[in-house]
Amino acid sequence: MEKQREQWGSRTGFVLAAIGSAVGLGNIWRYPYIAYENGGGAFLIPYLFALLTAGIAILILEYAIGHRKQGSAPYSFFRISAKMEWLGWWQTFISFVILTYYVVIVSWALSFAYFSIGLKWGNNTESFMLEKYLKFAGVSENIWQIGGINWPILLIVTLIWLVVFFVLYKGIKNGIERANKILLPLLAIMLVIITIRAITLPGAAIGLNALLEPNWSKIADPQVWINAYGQIFFSLSIGFGIMITYSSYLPKRSDLSNNAFIAAFSNSSVEFLAAIAVFGALGFLATSQGVPVEDVVQSGVVLAFVVFPQIINQLPAFNDLFGLLFFGSLFIAGFTSLISIAEVCVAAVQDKFRLTRNQAVSWITGVGFVFSLLYTTYAGLGYLDIVDRFINNYGIVLAGLVEIIALGWFFKLSVYRDHVNLVSDIRIGYWWDVCLKVITPIVLIVMTGYNLYQEFFVSPYGDGAYTTGQLFTFGWLLSIVVIVLSFFVQRIRWKNEERFEQ
Ligand code: ALA
Repeated sequence: MEKQREQWGSRTGFVLAAIGSAVGLGNIWRYPYIAYENGGGAFLIPYLFALLTAGIAILILEYAIGHRKQGSAPYSFFRISAKMEWLGWWQTFISFVILTYYVVIVSWALSFAYFSIGLKWGNNTESFMLEKYLKFAGVSENIWQIGGINWPILLIVTLIWLVVFFVLYKGIKNGIERANKILLPLLAIMLVIITIRAITLPGAAIGLNALLEPNWSKIADPQVWINAYGQIFFSLSIGFGIMITYSSYLPKRSDLSNNAFIAAFSNSSVEFLAAIAVFGALGFLATSQGVPVEDVVQSGVVLAFVVFPQIINQLPAFNDLFGLLFFGSLFIAGFTSLISIAEVCVAAVQDKFRLTRNQAVSWITGVGFVFSLLYTTYAGLGYLDIVDRFINNYGIVLAGLVEIIALGWFFKLSVYRDHVNLVSDIRIGYWWDVCLKVITPIVLIVMTGYNLYQEFFVSPYGDGAYTTGQLFTFGWLLSIVVIVLSFFVQRIRWKNEERFEQ
């Protein structure tokens, strides 16, 4: 007899896990910079449009798929149609790729939480991060020369894999749910303290002005819309199987639409909070250095690991404590997302190959560990940058596009709307079909076309920092390989055939 599928212990448990997955590195380091670069206050228009028409609509759809089909992403799509199983594997492989570099960034956050004690990064935070810590040889050099393994980073990465193993091994209720129940309230408290401190710093208002001042001309720039959609997909954890997997562990009578709204609005609230905190702090840094805010704004890795240590150095008091709070919150936000990304892969191989949870967790963390070694090399930052860019633009977003076209046009979307309405507090209307069948596909197709045009005819990613060979291998080839592999795995027979009879 097949064991009954594991379930969340409570509605709160599920909602917290969904928020824990959504709130991640994307909220704290990606959103503030993306909002600033893409029109400041005016960015709210494409952002909210993407959130309402694509984000929440797809979130509800993914909840409905997982809940109705009661399976991992591949199994859920297989149950929709045997020909669609590959889509579930595509999303699973995307998650696997993200998993292997996400774990490394989370490990940096943990290391920097430790470095905060005694401000171990010193005064030159840039040389500390890039030269001393990452030993990064420079992106423009030959990316094939890995230069060697960065052992201190590998040590922390190994430690995090062990914790991921432990949490996943404990299962849905005792592992993932419990971890989120402990970590999320802690994260909320830490973020509120950081935000209050940031906005009360001298010069904070200048930073907030820079963030919120609307640059309306940006609204006409397609790239701004692309960035808004990209942010929403990554940040809400949609398009890579997470929400299908998580909702498959919901009991039969569980609300879906209301939970989706709660998760989505909580995620955006954290994004806004993080943006206020980050720009308040940047305003402070700019004021104390006597330079305009645009001189201190940086993106991604540099913003979190170079500029923030600088800000922490300059604080009037409790510097170590704020370092610990900032990097601690980055670590917690990243960790709760990390386990959700890993769970996608665990659930998929467990279903397909009829493994015990123990075996599935061991395989995923073991193989994941091996692949993550790539990003612990001296050239790791370069690989990470290319892979992150391509897997987001041509992985997550495209997989989301195929998902809504398939479900919207080839399988009955109304089945899922009825399903949601049967179990949920909030009824969803016809607007949902319009978003998924018409608006979002059109936007995503135009967006992908524009992206490809830019990439091939205007300027390839990195503005010359990477060679064609590097972009081809870690970008294009990887994006294609995950699709080819998905069709390949679809051809493998399910180990537990009788259970998977449709
Ligand atoms: N949703 C997760 C994040 O924002 C993956 O980082």
